[in-house]
Amino acid sequence: MTKQETKQAFPAGFLWGGATAANQLEGAFDADGKGLSTSDMAPFVPKELRNGKDFTFDVNSVELEEFLGGNTDVYFPKRNGVDFYHRYKEDIAMFAEMGFKVLRISMAWTRIFPTGEEEVPNEAGLAFYDNVLDELLKHNIEPLVTISHYEMPVHLTQKYNGWEDRRLIDLYLKFANTLFDRYKDKVKYWITFNEMNMILTSLYTGGGILEDKIKGSKEQVAYQATHHQFVASALAVKSGKEKMPNAQIGCMICRLETYAASSKPEDVLQTLKEDQMNLFYPEVQARGEYPSYMNRYFEENGIELVKEPEDDAIIKDNTVDFIAFSYYMTYIGKYDPNDNSNSGMLVSQVKNPHLEVTEWGWPIDPIGLRVALNRLYDRYRMPLFIVENGLGATDKLEEDGSIHDTYRIDYLRRHIEQMREAVADGVDLMGFTSWGPIDIISCSTSEMGKRYGFIYVDQDNAGNGTLQRYRKDSFDWYKQVIESNGQIL
Ligand code: BG6
Repeated sequence: MTKQETKQAFPAGFLWGGATAANQLEGAFDADGKGLSTSDMAPFVPKELRNGKDFTFDVNSVELEEFLGGNTDVYFPKRNGVDFYHRYKEDIAMFAEMGFKVLRISMAWTRIFPTGEEEVPNEAGLAFYDNVLDELLKHNIEPLVTISHYEMPVHLTQKYNGWEDRRLIDLYLKFANTLFDRYKDKVKYWITFNEMNMILTSLYTGGGILEDKIKGSKEQVAYQATHHQFVASALAVKSGKEKMPNAQIGCMICRLETYAASSKPEDVLQTLKEDQMNLFYPEVQARGEYPSYMNRYFEENGIELVKEPEDDAIIKDNTVDFIAFSYYMTYIGKYDPNDNSNSGMLVSQVKNPHLEVTEWGWPIDPIGLRVALNRLYDRYRMPLFIVENGLGATDKLEEDGSIHDTYRIDYLRRHIEQMREAVADGVDLMGFTSWGPIDIISCSTSEMGKRYGFIYVDQDNAGNGTLQRYRKDSFDWYKQVIESNGQIL
């Protein structure tokens, strides 16, 4: 790395900040008319009792009934989050103290339409987000709103089996249009769906679909639901742009940059295929059409998508303004002669011997971020936005209220360095929102103990604690990063 390379700065106006999701942050799951959402049904189960089952990603209809009936003694951490609902002023003031330019939030569908089917939105829910947005704007923090982040009214799961049903498109649009109408003067940056590609990994989390209720194959349903979300997303782009000509509306994926396990051509080809599955989503949303490799894949795997005649034109005419992505790790592509399908299930079982992993086993690969940025930009020539990255770790609150999270600083520093290199390579990068700038409930495990924040929240996995906020060492470090526009790391 040359001196000249490392000295490159970020563009003026670069959007530094943090990223959150309503269902992991807000709590107050039944306050002011809010309905129950799919994420309210994710219990915390200690690792030793899970038996390989992951409740966030895998809830079946029997469990759902049990959870809804209250006939269970497990704890549901996402119902309480970290009580941002009541503490948003304090939390936003701390984000402002770090100098945030942007905060990514999502809006809980069930605060606005408790079952998803009401004709009239819940005014108390709308008023809450008005207050949050006003507080952000007061501190000159630009809101970036994800319309749907891994949750939906549980009623829509029960009645329609979520996104398996095409009628979800109109229900989603009613929700999206309500947000556009209400917040058009307050929000410029929007994302239609969080990590759309993860529906292949979890039908429940990504699509509100109960696997034991589906009739066809899991893949068939996953891609049909994906198609419904593509159409819904494109229609949201259309009406969003009509209502807000200056808005920037993006798509979002969990980017899984994939390396070949070896230089063996079969491994390289396998890697290409896995990469194509990951890029299928921006391919449709940024380029406006289904790529031919997916059409071939559907044909060879007996997947028949039901499309309405107008769908292709809707997708073609309403592409996104930017591509947002989360980046946590890289994957390995390895050819397996016993598996001739290209599952696209995004799970790499092969370990990369060159990388350390986090306490939760996620490979740490800062250079992979530079590769991901360059590859995405080379391919789409469209502004990119890193809307999630960070280290989930166990933190220790000292007697004096300090938290020495040097490991987090080190992780972020190394990723931001690579980001800076990618910008110097010419990548058009709009901003960086670190995941969970305040500790929130983990998406995948519903733990509190998997912390990403610059701000520590006093709460344990069982929901005990004062909820008091403490500044970690990384708080001042990130403040300085933002102040210097990424020059001082
Ligand atoms: C992303 C999700 O996949 O990863 C977030 O969009 C999530 O909602 C984040 O929190 C980190 O995952 P986890 O399981 O460590 O919280």
